[in-house]
Amino acid sequence: MTNSLSKTDLKKHRQQFPGLVNKTYFNFGGQGTMPEAALAAIMDTHRYIQQVGPFSGQINGWLTDKVNLLREAIATELGTTPETITLTENVTAGCNIALWGVDWRRGDHILMTDCEHPGIIATVAEISRRFGVEVSICSIMDTLNDGDPVEVIHSNLTENTRLVVLSHLLWNTGQVLPLKEIAQACHNHSSDKTVRVMVDAAQSVGLLPLNLPELEIDYYAFTGHKWLCGPAGVGGLYISQEAFKDLNPTFIGWRGVEMDEQGKPIAWKQDGAKFEVATSAYPEYEGLRTAIATHQSWGNKSDRYQRICQLSKYLWSQLQNIEQVSCLKHTPPEAGLVSFQVAGIEHKQLVNALEQQGFLLRTIADPDCIRACVHYLTLPEEIDCLITALRDYNKI
Ligand SMILES: Cc1ncc(COP(=O)(O)O)c(C=O)c1O
Repeated sequence: MTNSLSKTDLKKHRQQFPGLVNKTYFNFGGQGTMPEAALAAIMDTHRYIQQVGPFSGQINGWLTDKVNLLREAIATELGTTPETITLTENVTAGCNIALWGVDWRRGDHILMTDCEHPGIIATVAEISRRFGVEVSICSIMDTLNDGDPVEVIHSNLTENTRLVVLSHLLWNTGQVLPLKEIAQACHNHSSDKTVRVMVDAAQSVGLLPLNLPELEIDYYAFTGHKWLCGPAGVGGLYISQEAFKDLNPTFIGWRGVEMDEQGKPIAWKQDGAKFEVATSAYPEYEGLRTAIATHQSWGNKSDRYQRICQLSKYLWSQLQNIEQVSCLKHTPPEAGLVSFQVAGIEHKQLVNALEQQGFLLRTIADPDCIRACVHYLTLPEEIDCLITALRDYNKI
């Protein structure tokens, strides 16, 4: 593949990511590799806090400013406003805020796809048990190559459906769901009951060029430690202005409330902070903010997404040339997740063997496949080396 794809400075830009130096990394969907500046920002913040006094008027004000700056940086990446963002620890925490925040009634119905992550499935199961909520699972996996996901969702809504749970970018097959059309089908479903749409955005934030208000979804839960390459432990939840009105907090603390002069809670915060609880690992916030700035210094979100698609198409087409390999998707990927199967080989064994050679990929259980994640940071040469390693493995 020619260099026409890469902005000439990409190789230099990559040098800021120490995790990319000694391995060929295809696991950004599991966890991203942090830029050096983000690691430094975390340590610098810890040091500064110690120097000024971990609890002091000066540091408390300084940290409040830093929290707001992170909220703004995330909002810019997501095409929304800071008030719609709740800072959390990870995707699952954000999903839990939305799932437990609904005023469930016995007989309500949740519709969930068959491609959701175990933590979300488990939360929905507990809600079902505790509140007598019915859950049904619809087959989205089958629509990877043909079929209409909007129609699948639409035809599975019932008169009791209150929430649809789905992912924007499916972590197993790499399919991107048409969220806007799905959200519209849900919101137009009933005139007397609102069907809300909760999105697991683990794989889409930091990858797709997003404008969340345009998608018309209600809740969008994400993390900073995957495609955004921030530290583990900082994520967020977008709540639309409309959905904010009827979502109640479950875990509650001083960060979510307004206080009077005696420090007594008197009202909920009227923005995303309502769902934040208490003290967090603030130096990690600076790590994520710095990681986002590092990406933006290379290119805007459309530039990055375009490069991801060019590279994933390249990987996909090279995989097609290996006889024993079949990609799950029959057309080029619309994002950076490329899932494939290798005939006659146990996938786990192959992934372990590749890891021994410095190629980091993962297996997926359902459907049984190997997943390679291509970031804008990926080099075409890395894809070529992976293809060679695959061909050399048992001479497939
Ligand atoms: C689709 C999806 N949902 C949820 C998660 C869990 O993410 P977190 O650990 O940030 O909660 C993952 C992580 O791999 C994922 O891929």
